[in-house]
Amino acid sequence: MDPTQPTYDPLLGAPPAADAAALARQAADLFTTLASAAAQEYRSLSVALGGGSTPKALYELLASAAYRERIQWPLIHFFWGDERYVPADHADSNYRMAYEALLARVPVPAANIHRMATDSPDEEAAARAAEADLRDHFKLQPGQLPRFDLILLGLGDDGHTASLFPGQPAVEVTDRLVVATPPGRLPPPVDRLTLTLPVINHAAHVVFLVAGAGKAAALQGVLHPVAGAALPASRVHPTAGTLRWLTDQAAAGSLR
Ligand code: 6PG
Repeated sequence: MDPTQPTYDPLLGAPPAADAAALARQAADLFTTLASAAAQEYRSLSVALGGGSTPKALYELLASAAYRERIQWPLIHFFWGDERYVPADHADSNYRMAYEALLARVPVPAANIHRMATDSPDEEAAARAAEADLRDHFKLQPGQLPRFDLILLGLGDDGHTASLFPGQPAVEVTDRLVVATPPGRLPPPVDRLTLTLPVINHAAHVVFLVAGAGKAAALQGVLHPVAGAALPASRVHPTAGTLRWLTDQAAAGSLR
C-alpha cells in the first residue's frame, strides 16, 4: 500500500476517529479553534447546534474542565439546526439536551440562547418566529440568508439531516429559512422545525458528527450515492464554506 495515500475515504476530509469519544475530542478541538479565532478578531460566533444523541458527548466535553476555560462563552450565540415540536422540558427536546449537557454549565448569557420556541400550537407561527429571530440576529435584508459560523449536523439512518427527511417537501424549500415539517420515519414521531438547505449551505463551516456502526450504510449512501434521488444529507454542500465529516471507525471504517 502506498504510505502517501490516505487510508480513509478522501470525501471524509479527515480520518475517522477511533471511537465516539475520540470523535467528540476532534469536534471539541474544532469548536475551540473557531471560538478562539472569533475571540482574536473581537467578533461573535453564531453556532447552530445539532440534535439527536450523537452531539451530547461533544457538548459535555465542551463543558468539562478540559475545554470550558478555553472558550469565551459570551461571544457565542447558540441556535439549533432543528427542533422536535415538543415542550422545552420534554425528553425529546434538542434544546433540553444541549441545555443540560452544555448551556447550563458554561457562562453563556441567556440572550445568546436562541431556542426555537415550540410552545404555541401554531407550528407555522413558530417557524416564522424562528425566522424572525434569525433575521434580527443576522440583521438580514429581505432575501438574504443568515451565514452561520458553524452548523453541526447529524446523520439519520435514512440519510436525513437536521429535520430534512427523504421525500419530504421541506428538503426542496428554497424561499424560507425555517419550516415546520412532519416527522420522518425514524423516531421520535413528532413534528419538527428545521433550518432549510439554503441556510445550511450558506454557512462558513458545516460539520457532520457521525458515530456508530448503525450509520455506516447511511454514510456510504450519502458519500457514494447510487442512482436515484440524492439523500438530504448528500445535498449539504456549502456554497462558500467548508464541509467536514467527523466520524468514527465504526461508522466510516468500511467506506468504499
Ligand atoms: C434530530 C436531529 C437529527 C439527528 C439524526 C441523528 O432532531 O433528531 O437533528 O437530524 O442528528 O437523526 O441522530 P442520532 O445522533 O441520535 O443518531
